[in-house]
Amino acid sequence: MGFDWVEWLHLGIRWIHIITGIAWIGASFYFIWLDMNLTPPKKGGDKDKAGVGGELWAIHGGGFYEVQKYRIAPPTFPDHLHWFKYEAYFTWLSGFVLLTLLYYFGAEIYLIDQSVADISSDTAILIGLGSLVGGWIVYDLLCKSPLINHQGVFGIVLFLLLTLAAWGLSQVFSGRGAYIHIGAIIGTIMAANVLMVIMPGQRALVSSVEKGETPDPAPGLRAKQRSLHNNYFTLPVLFIMISNHYPMTFGHDYGWLVLAGISLVGILVRHYFNMKNQGKAKQGFVLLPIAFVMIFAIAYVAAPKSVDLSQGPKVPFAVVQKIVDERCVSCHAAKPTSEDFDAPPKGVKLETVSQIVRERTRIKQQVIDTDAMPLGNMTEMTEEERLLLGRWIAQGASTD
Ligand code: HEC
Repeated sequence: MGFDWVEWLHLGIRWIHIITGIAWIGASFYFIWLDMNLTPPKKGGDKDKAGVGGELWAIHGGGFYEVQKYRIAPPTFPDHLHWFKYEAYFTWLSGFVLLTLLYYFGAEIYLIDQSVADISSDTAILIGLGSLVGGWIVYDLLCKSPLINHQGVFGIVLFLLLTLAAWGLSQVFSGRGAYIHIGAIIGTIMAANVLMVIMPGQRALVSSVEKGETPDPAPGLRAKQRSLHNNYFTLPVLFIMISNHYPMTFGHDYGWLVLAGISLVGILVRHYFNMKNQGKAKQGFVLLPIAFVMIFAIAYVAAPKSVDLSQGPKVPFAVVQKIVDERCVSCHAAKPTSEDFDAPPKGVKLETVSQIVRERTRIKQQVIDTDAMPLGNMTEMTEEERLLLGRWIAQGASTD
């Protein structure tokens, strides 16, 4: 058995990506929660005089914590100041490496879908990279425009722009490719917020405190704004990362709309928690049933048309096996003949009668309910063949 180091490399980087991502998003949740739960100290008390703007008590891991946030700066500068940035940088870096390994080196497999757009790998990769850079530029310009002073409108415009990007990318990439790029655009914006705005803002604050000057509050406020944006990005981006396992999302004809809908649910849920943290749980509570109903509405609307495939003459198994042999087995075999795979993807083998019958439910999900398989329709399966497979399954998947 050959040692498939590429697979192990993928596994290792994916693991790192999840670990650093959890650390980053965990810190984002914690600090936004902390900030919203701070209560001002007693007016005229010692803490107030020392410049404390808000404090919070917590118990965790068997001990009491007292956290204080200074309005501007502490009276004496601490010896050790913790910064939070590496989790952001490593999440982005590991994500970018994964994107490159899977979607750019494997552009023909994962990024391009001939039936969507017949583009070359180079073109696809350029569009992909361009979308990451372009996404950040547009977002950053939006943040520097007067729109930033109207939080609600800003949010709606940003949401619509990202939806437009999802639509645009779904005109050139496979469903998977479009989804992962929206995730990567958001991830890039989040990491660039840390690198280009939040860290410089904090460095300016620290340097003026060290020099004993009164710091300009503007960079700090900008940093806070960007951190809040990052907080709202978290749930949509996490959805995108797991969506890869669910072809009814990315594989849908209107996958970009499904993405927008589910992202909106994530944003509403995040908003509820942020309202709750500010003591407005009651006012915000209505968001939860709305989010809940929206998920069901999306699932209902996005469901595959329930056409009765069972009608029509019986499909002989020989016909099914021929289709599967031609369209699937180059990848889904113990020893794939496709040079892109050394092992059957996801362990799915479709060489024998019993293998095909056993996989019928998943075949329906991947081939009939959605066009997720054959991957990027590389084996050029026809609509008629999909219907034949569908009818065979609907008629009870017999092996005669
Ligand atoms: C070009 C190679 C290729 C071809 C051809 C191909 N597949 Fe796949 N298939 C894949 C890959 C890669 C995956 C794993 C996708 C992933 O990581 O989500 C996969 C996954 C699957 C899965 C498992 C999905 C899951 O997540 O549970 C099924 C079922 C499947 N394919 C069925 C088929 C059928 C049926 C055909 C033929 C109509 C087919 N495939 C043709 C590459 C291929």
